Amino acid sequence: MYNFDEEINRKDTSCLKHDVMSAYFGDYKDLQPLWVADMDLRTPDFITQAMNEKIQHGIFGYTRPTKTLIDAVVKWMKDRHNYTIKEEYLTFVNGVVPAYSAAIEAFSNEGDEVIVQTPAYYPFFNHIKSNNRVLVANQLKETDGYYTMDLKDLESKITSKTKILVLCSPHNPVGRVWNKEELSALAKICIKHNIKIISDEIHADLVYEKFTSLASISSEIADITLTLNSAGKTFNIAGLNCGYAICHNKEMKKTFDEVVIKREVNAINLFGFVAHEAAYTKGHIWLEELKSYLQSNIDFTYDFLKSNNSKIEFVKPEATYLLWLNFNKLNNTHSQIKHRLLGDAKVALNDGTTFAKEAKGYFRINIALPQAQLKIALEKIVTNLH
Ligand SMILES: Cc1ncc(COP(=O)(O)O)c(C=O)c1O
Repeated sequence: MYNFDEEINRKDTSCLKHDVMSAYFGDYKDLQPLWVADMDLRTPDFITQAMNEKIQHGIFGYTRPTKTLIDAVVKWMKDRHNYTIKEEYLTFVNGVVPAYSAAIEAFSNEGDEVIVQTPAYYPFFNHIKSNNRVLVANQLKETDGYYTMDLKDLESKITSKTKILVLCSPHNPVGRVWNKEELSALAKICIKHNIKIISDEIHADLVYEKFTSLASISSEIADITLTLNSAGKTFNIAGLNCGYAICHNKEMKKTFDEVVIKREVNAINLFGFVAHEAAYTKGHIWLEELKSYLQSNIDFTYDFLKSNNSKIEFVKPEATYLLWLNFNKLNNTHSQIKHRLLGDAKVALNDGTTFAKEAKGYFRINIALPQAQLKIALEKIVTNLH
């Protein structure tokens, strides 16, 4: 049994979540960080061991993905997601976001439109803008906190300039695991209108429901899809900057790879490879235990809010350790809630309006931390926001 209750000090360790808060939250002091999507939980021993062995070797020159790493990725996809991929579909990259940005360049031209289902992980917006493409928002539908796709709105927004649809599957921040029917209906529209799909599946391993990889549904769908993934979220190794793209369509892959090479997105840290191979060959048991722990934190948060008669609401996510909290029943403005979170409760959550401008009253909390620390955060939130 792994001990996820272990409390590890991350302060003063060049840690974005704990050490760079003033850049994001200004003058608010002594904040408990519950924002950046990494975990305050120890990376498993079999990963640090593999990295230690590499350190002992003592030479850290240029590197390439090995056959054993490639085999590990192929097997992981099959074992965990019943998704059959081949070596020739894979491109290793130095992160999902750099690969996403490269894909935007590869599959569209300046001035073309890219559809994003909102609310959405905000770097999706940044890289549409930085590539001089036009962002088209297709808002998800929300009913009692549960989100579904609005395909009617999606189709009405397609023009001759629409070249890419960005899918976040499972979805950050709303926590949905899109099912096969939803994905098939979405892909049908994209096939009809000749739109390529970038499917960001970085949260795929952290699912509490059955996950379906978009490209595994049919060869027609695989033919228009570039899938992006990484062990970064699952095994808490995001700082090692490694991930991979999967593309069945040879022509699409060639176009993507050209941009990857041009932008050096394939310049990857040696330890990223080492950690991925260890994760994907030895990680199944640890991952099951992690998911149980995360679910117990989700349940704990839900029960804590209920038993304290809190007006803060959320629907339990089907994946991830990110909860999309709705503060609107407090009848405060968005900025009042933000001030009470930062100034009174002293907790740093992600502002919902960075995921969608209309997401007023929403804040995202990261519950991937020891439960004792989560309890402290929830007590502060409930005491100061009622
Ligand atoms: C949906 C999604 N994609 C990508 C990333 C980051 O990926 P990477 O660190 O590999 O660039 C995150 C991190 O929060 C995420 O939530």
